[in-house]
Amino acid sequence: MRILVTGGAGYIGSHTCVELLQQGHEVIVVDNLCNSKEDSLKRVQELTGRKLTFFKIDLLDRKSLIDLFDTLSVEAVIHFAGLKSVGESVNLPLRYYHNNVTGTMLLCEVMAEHNVTTMVFSSSATVYGEPKTVPIDENAPLAPTNPYGRSKLMIETVLKDLHAADKRWNIALLRYFNPVGAHPSGLIGESPQGIPNNLFPYITQVAVGMLSKLSIFGDDYPTADGTGIRDYVHVLDVARGHTKALERLAERPGVVTYNLGTGKGYTVLEVVSAFEKSSGRKIPYQIVSRRAGDSAESYADTSLIKSELGWVAEKGIDEMCADAWNWQSKNPRGYT
Ligand code: NAD
Ligand code: UFG
Repeated sequence: MRILVTGGAGYIGSHTCVELLQQGHEVIVVDNLCNSKEDSLKRVQELTGRKLTFFKIDLLDRKSLIDLFDTLSVEAVIHFAGLKSVGESVNLPLRYYHNNVTGTMLLCEVMAEHNVTTMVFSSSATVYGEPKTVPIDENAPLAPTNPYGRSKLMIETVLKDLHAADKRWNIALLRYFNPVGAHPSGLIGESPQGIPNNLFPYITQVAVGMLSKLSIFGDDYPTADGTGIRDYVHVLDVARGHTKALERLAERPGVVTYNLGTGKGYTVLEVVSAFEKSSGRKIPYQIVSRRAGDSAESYADTSLIKSELGWVAEKGIDEMCADAWNWQSKNPRGYT
């Protein structure tokens, strides 16, 4: 299949490009590189021994998108491109709604004009907001608590409405829990700009000596050790979820929504301890107050994706830690 991957130079996109190329698909990447480097794509090609095509295009640039669809016969789109920082979205809501929602709407318009109606979309567990119960299944209430999460929910709504209006649209909405880790080669991985917001890149940067210690946001949650519980899922398992979703859409068209997680939650302290074991490095930490907007516990009910796609996460926390550390230790400053 000839697949257009928006945001393909980013963290999850680059790992998915590896999976697609290894499966024999033809890959075209569109990315404006606002949060990534073209190096990731060079390394994807080095890693797979296969070529992909890259266009530095902003999704908001309708004309360039039309030119691309005019010249290449795209068969399906995997849509990763978006801004993803929760905190930034609170301060810059218009930027988030414009980039994420308008960008997706322009993409869909151009797709429809070119009769391309298959899309796998990167949604997020953030659409559930503060969960009432765990594990969280796909029918749980949707109540995102920040503009980033609301932009994801708006896009889900737009895509469902598109399918309702025109049954040619085949759409998979994948709600990722906490993607972490890296390709075991150590060639590609997560390379955040500035101080990381997320737990895993923060820990790996402490381990490599770029940051002095981890701040753990709260130890007074109603969990076994008082720290927050999340469902960490290896980025290669996440990548494989996309090819599974494409297969499903080819066999049984429609609109589908799946959680992508392991179904198992770990506390922050359990992650620190697993990472120390995998890396052999001590992670100094301090307990600080809770981070606004964080919930105590979030992990997925994965029964739907298991029964409908046969997808289950194969890699556990030790592999996630080992691969994250392998990437960080080989590339202390990421792609730069
Ligand atoms: P990332 O920032 O590494 O990748 C996103 C890519 O999109 C970047 O390369 C960026 O340059 C590109 N991009 C952004 N806006 C664009 C635009 N207007 N035009 C073209 N390119 C644009 O992020 P990621 O972690 O790989 O996440 C991929 C997707 O998955 C995002 O949509 C994100 O919201 C979603 N997601 C990520 C996580 C996570 O924890 N990483 C969790 C849930 C959902
Ligand atoms: N944490 C710390 N210290 C840090 C960073 C995080 O203690 O420096 C804790 C958090 O409080 C939380 C856990 O580690 O308990 C995980 O935090 P992350 O920031 O890594 O992940 P979140 O679950 O908060 O959010 C992530 C993405 C969101 C996405 C969500 C669900 O940042 O965009 O997963 O997919 F929506």
